[in-house]
Amino acid sequence: MCGIFAYLNFHANKERRYILDVLFNGLRRLEYRGYDSAGIAIDSSSLSSPPLVFRQAGNIESLVNSVNEEITNTELNLEEVFYFHAGIAHTRWATHGEPAPRNSHPQSSGPGDDFLVVHNGVITNYEVLKETLLRHGFTFESDTDTEVIPKLAKFVFDKANEEGEQTVSFCEVVFEVMRHLEGAYALIFKSWRYPNELVACKRGSPLLLGVKELDQDKSNTHVFKDAHFLSKNDHPKEFFLSSDPHALVEHTKKVLVIEDEEVVHLKDGGVDILKFERRNGSSRPASVERALSVLEMEVEQINKGKYDHYMQKEIHEQPESLTTTMRGRLIRGGSSKPKTVLLGGLKDHLKTIRRSRRIVFIGCGTSYNAALASRPILEELSGIPVSMEIASDLWDRQGPIYREDTAVFVSQSGETADTLLALDYARENGALCVGITNTVGSSIARKTDCGVHINAGAEIGVASTKAYTSQIVVMVMLALAIGSDTISSQTRREAIIDGLLDLPNKIREVLKLDEEMKDLAQLLIEEQSLLVFGRGYNYATALEGALKVKEVSLMHSEGILAGEMKHGPLALVDENLPIAVIATRDACFSKQQSVIQQLHARKGRLIVMCSKGDAASVSSSGSCRAIEVPQVEDCLQPVVNIVPLQLLAYHLTVLRGHNVDQPRNLAKSVTTQ
Ligand code: F6R
Repeated sequence: MCGIFAYLNFHANKERRYILDVLFNGLRRLEYRGYDSAGIAIDSSSLSSPPLVFRQAGNIESLVNSVNEEITNTELNLEEVFYFHAGIAHTRWATHGEPAPRNSHPQSSGPGDDFLVVHNGVITNYEVLKETLLRHGFTFESDTDTEVIPKLAKFVFDKANEEGEQTVSFCEVVFEVMRHLEGAYALIFKSWRYPNELVACKRGSPLLLGVKELDQDKSNTHVFKDAHFLSKNDHPKEFFLSSDPHALVEHTKKVLVIEDEEVVHLKDGGVDILKFERRNGSSRPASVERALSVLEMEVEQINKGKYDHYMQKEIHEQPESLTTTMRGRLIRGGSSKPKTVLLGGLKDHLKTIRRSRRIVFIGCGTSYNAALASRPILEELSGIPVSMEIASDLWDRQGPIYREDTAVFVSQSGETADTLLALDYARENGALCVGITNTVGSSIARKTDCGVHINAGAEIGVASTKAYTSQIVVMVMLALAIGSDTISSQTRREAIIDGLLDLPNKIREVLKLDEEMKDLAQLLIEEQSLLVFGRGYNYATALEGALKVKEVSLMHSEGILAGEMKHGPLALVDENLPIAVIATRDACFSKQQSVIQQLHARKGRLIVMCSKGDAASVSSSGSCRAIEVPQVEDCLQPVVNIVPLQLLAYHLTVLRGHNVDQPRNLAKSVTTQ
């Protein structure tokens, strides 16, 4: 949902070529957040003249090509060295206005480009602001909500100068702009009126600062506990601002997660962090001291390695990601001690959760499906009613949430706007809020009362795969932890823990179906649609499998609760439409057998996912293609069963010639409503 990036070098000789590379690479790392258009602004040779701005529709490589062309045409010197330089960059997922250069960022204050802004988020009151600015003589070129921001900055700047406040600082201009903005944003401002400075601020959308000192402390391991490091000094440094850590880790691990209402001012080799207080009116906000922390991420995690696509890599690394999710959390017990689960982030809240009147799972898309897959085991082991809420729907309905509820927010990114809105709503209603995210320091992780990180590692493919399986495993562990005070379910819990410990092996086994799923994809390549039937634990598998197929291969696909088959979907069945049925062994097995019989009776074209050894029996009553998967504990079966469907979606996409990692119209982190 748009990625913003900035690079400022201080007291360091850097060639224009290097600066461009840093900006382009930053954008490449953020491209999964949006790839409709992109743009950058870099300094021109003279600091007292407007910057060079490049904007292009299409992905980052289109921007890179157009910049290269422009550089050749204008004979811009790539070897020119900058002692200081401040550049900003943006990759866009279009919300307001079609993907076109004029709607790309940086958006400008107008002729002369006094102020340039890159933005992630949505300004909800932009129409009112635009009307005011139009009345003051500003003209608008784009259809974006963002354009009001640099124009507002110019208005504030000009007004201060008219009034003789020559000393208005860059930061003060931004504060004044913030006072007028409503909505969600992370913003980076660049202005040639303030050379060698950048100002960034945020409310609602994510933003991180990365700091790299060039001639000292190369270890990158020290945690800075105070603002000392951030104070002004003359050591050559590089500063980076980014929507997420992926674009920082190759430069530095010293980062600061910027909080809502904070303003970051990079100037003279120092960083000022100031807190914007709405209620303080126009009074100058105070500096706050913040500690840099160390990013726990390796560059290898964000590279494709031996794989062609991130989605492929992420599907295949699930044995490892699941191992990491469970690391240190499953206690094997001893001769007299039971096996148990330890979720450090929840230990102080388990009693409250056990006393809840209801547990409400809240999420969107794949995260919602993961919660749905975990619902039966949570109900079984906790005895507490569990209800499911799609975040946007809860908010639309303003559905009832009570103080006695535990609301569990599931989100890979931890930044999904709909989920965040539902979180604010649940907090207002007094529920205990639990976060399950993959992103340490994300808004959901910070705003919830407690939670569990899924630790699946960076997920870059827009279609979520390894996060889904890790989310289910975390929620199964959550069920085990809540139920751990019930003696009657001890044997069941221990069997699940054994199943969890063996799960990575079972995933290794199921990944061997890769070629088989590629063959199946070949057979389905020309189809218009694929139905997926599941029930019980695997209703979620049907929804998630269909979601994967449709979002990446662009083939229509629908997950259907098999119990609903006779209430409508059966009408679609004929000898042409491919139908996948999940019929692995669990309490719903015999019911699924009967579904298969009925589909056979109507000459349905079936693909049946069954437990190892069941292929012959499932196809005994009619022809079908069977996919055998290892059998595991019922609550863990969705983790195994989704893998062949992920592989199918992947191969279908490649064979149909679509972009696997950047599906049409989608973005990874949906930070707008
Ligand atoms: C589908 C997918 C989306 C996300 C959804 C929620 O593959 O990735 O459906 O699951 O946008 O995102 P998070 O989990 O980041 O809240």
